[in-house]
Amino acid sequence: MKKTVIENMPDMNQARKRVESIKTIYYNYEPSQKLIDRFKGKYAYIRTFGCQANVRDEETMMGLLSSIGMIKTEDPTKASVAIINTCAVRENAEDKVFGEIGEFKNIKAKNKDLVLLLCGCMVEQKHIIEKTLEKYPHVDIFFGTHNIQDLLRLLDEFITKKSRYVDVSSFEGNIIEKMPVTRIENYKAYVNITYGCDKFCTYCIVPYTRGKERSRDINDILEECKVLVDEGFKEITLLGQNVDSYGKDLKNGVTFAHLLEEVAKLGIPRLRFLTSYPSDFKDDVIDVMAKYPNIMKYLHLPIQSGSDDVLKRMGRRYTSEEYLNLVNRIRAKIPNIALSTDIIVGFPNETYEDVLKTIDVSLKADYTSAFTFIYSPRKGTPAARLVDDVTYEEKNKRFKELVSALEVNFKKHADEMVGKVYEVLVDGESKKNKELLSGYTENNKVVHFKGDESLIGQIVKVKILESHVYSLFGELVDEDSLIKSKCEEIKKNIESSALVKEYLHYKGMIENDHELEQMHNKLLFMKKCDLNDEEKVEYLKLKEEYDNNPIVSNYNRLKKEIDDLKIEVKNLLKL
Ligand code: 5AD
Ligand code: SF4
Repeated sequence: MKKTVIENMPDMNQARKRVESIKTIYYNYEPSQKLIDRFKGKYAYIRTFGCQANVRDEETMMGLLSSIGMIKTEDPTKASVAIINTCAVRENAEDKVFGEIGEFKNIKAKNKDLVLLLCGCMVEQKHIIEKTLEKYPHVDIFFGTHNIQDLLRLLDEFITKKSRYVDVSSFEGNIIEKMPVTRIENYKAYVNITYGCDKFCTYCIVPYTRGKERSRDINDILEECKVLVDEGFKEITLLGQNVDSYGKDLKNGVTFAHLLEEVAKLGIPRLRFLTSYPSDFKDDVIDVMAKYPNIMKYLHLPIQSGSDDVLKRMGRRYTSEEYLNLVNRIRAKIPNIALSTDIIVGFPNETYEDVLKTIDVSLKADYTSAFTFIYSPRKGTPAARLVDDVTYEEKNKRFKELVSALEVNFKKHADEMVGKVYEVLVDGESKKNKELLSGYTENNKVVHFKGDESLIGQIVKVKILESHVYSLFGELVDEDSLIKSKCEEIKKNIESSALVKEYLHYKGMIENDHELEQMHNKLLFMKKCDLNDEEKVEYLKLKEEYDNNPIVSNYNRLKKEIDDLKIEVKNLLKL
C-alpha cells in the first residue's frame, strides 16, 4: 500500500466560517520538466458530475493539462491522467461517483501508470475522503474546489514522491485569475462571475463545499467575454450560485444589472445567466433584460417550495407572495419571458398541504420547465439534524403529484410554440434519435429537427411542428430553398414581362431570317480568322450593316436591357 501524504483535510466547522478577506491571485505555476516529459502527448480523461460550475472547472483543469501537452480523451482506458470531478448536492449524485470510482479499479489494474484524481464538491467532505482512502486504494490524489490551481503541482509531487496525496482545504476561498482554459464547446461558454454562496439554505451543502461568496472583478469578466465574442462564440452564460448578489463584496458600486448590461453590449448573440435568488433579484435587472435583445428572455428562478412555513425552515428569505409579486413585475415588463425553477419535495416534516401550496404557487408562476428533486439529507447541514416523520414512499407519491401538475403548464407552453419559427442554437446530434440534430430555443426549450452536421454551433431558424412535455420537433426553415423559390418567382415574372416577350420576338425573327442568319455566321467565322487589312475593312462594313439592321438593333437594345436586369437581380439575391 502506498504512503498517504495529507497536506490538508476539509472540516465542516471551518467551511461554515465567513470572516477572512478574499484575495485575487494570478496563476503562475511552472511545471517541472519531469512532469512535461512524463505526460506530453498523453491522454487526459475528465468525468464531470453536477452543475455548470463543475463543467467550467473541468475546462480549467483541461486547460492546465493541455498546457503540459496532454490531449483530451473520452476513453478512460487510453488515459494517463483521469480526473473524477464530483457533485455533492444530493446522495444519488454521490452514488454515481462511487460507481465511477469503482469502474477505475479494473482500468488501473490494466494500466498501472494511470494517475487517478478525485476533486469537486464531494471531496470537500471529510467522511467522503476517509471512506475513499479506505475502500478505493486506486485513487491517487484528492484536491478540492479551492485548489484546482494546484493540479499540476500535485501531479508533480505525486510522480516525484509516489505517495497518495490529499490536499483539500475548507476555507473561504480566493479568486484565481489567468488560469488556462480548454473550452468543451467552441460556440457556447460558461463564464464565472461569482464563486461560493453565503445563503446557507438549511438543506444545502454548497456553501460548505464552495466557500464564501466572492465576485470577480468586472474587468476580468469582461476580458474573458470579449475573447469569446472575438472568437465567434454564439452564447455566453454568466455563472454564480446567486448571480444577483454579484458585486456586493467588491464594495465599488458595481451591481449585477451593471455587469449584465456591459456584457450584453459586447455583442454576443445570446446571453444567459444562472442562478437567480428571488429576494436578491433587483428590478434594474428586469430593465436590462428588456432593453437588450441578445439577453435571452428566459429566467431560472428557484422557488424550492410554495409553502411559507417550509420556505422559512429552509432558510429561504422570501415568502410565496413576494415570489409571485416578483414574477408579476417581470412579466409586466417582459410578457413573453419563459420561467423555470427548482423545487424540493419532502423537506423534513413537510405536510401534504405544504405540497398543495407548492403546486398552487407553481401554477400561478406558470413555468415552462422545472427541475424537481426529492429532499436528500446532507451531512453537516442544519436540515440533516431534523427528525423527519414522513416516509420516503409518501414523499415519492407527492413528488409524482407535483410533477404531473407542473407538466400541464409545460405542455401548454410547448403547444403554443407549434407553427411558429424560432431561432435555435444547434448543439449536435439529438440524444433521442441520431438522425436528428437538436438545440435550444431562446426560451430554453430543446428542439429536434433534421439537418446537416455543418449546422452545429450555428443559430438556425426552425419551424415547430410537434410539441411534447419536455421537447419539440420541428423543421429547418431552409434559407437556401427560400432563395430558390424566390428565384423561381422572379424568373416567372421576368418571362411574362413585356420586355422579355419583345426580346424573344426579335430573337425569333433573327433566327427565321435566312439572310440575317448567313450574315451572322459569316461575321462569326471572320472573327475567328487572322484577317488582312482588306478583309478587316470588309468585316467592319458587314458588321455595321448587320448591327444597323432594324431587327438586329432592336434585338441588341433589348438584350442589353435584359443583361442589366440579370445583374441587378443577382446583386439583390447576393448570389
Ligand atoms: N436535496 C434535494 N435537492 C437539493 N438541492 C440542493 N440541495 C438539495 C438537497 N439537499 C436542489 C435545490 C437547488 C438545486 C441545484 O438542487 O433545488 O436549487
Ligand atoms: Fe445552496 Fe441556497 Fe446557495 Fe443555492 S442559494 S447554492 S440552494 S445555499
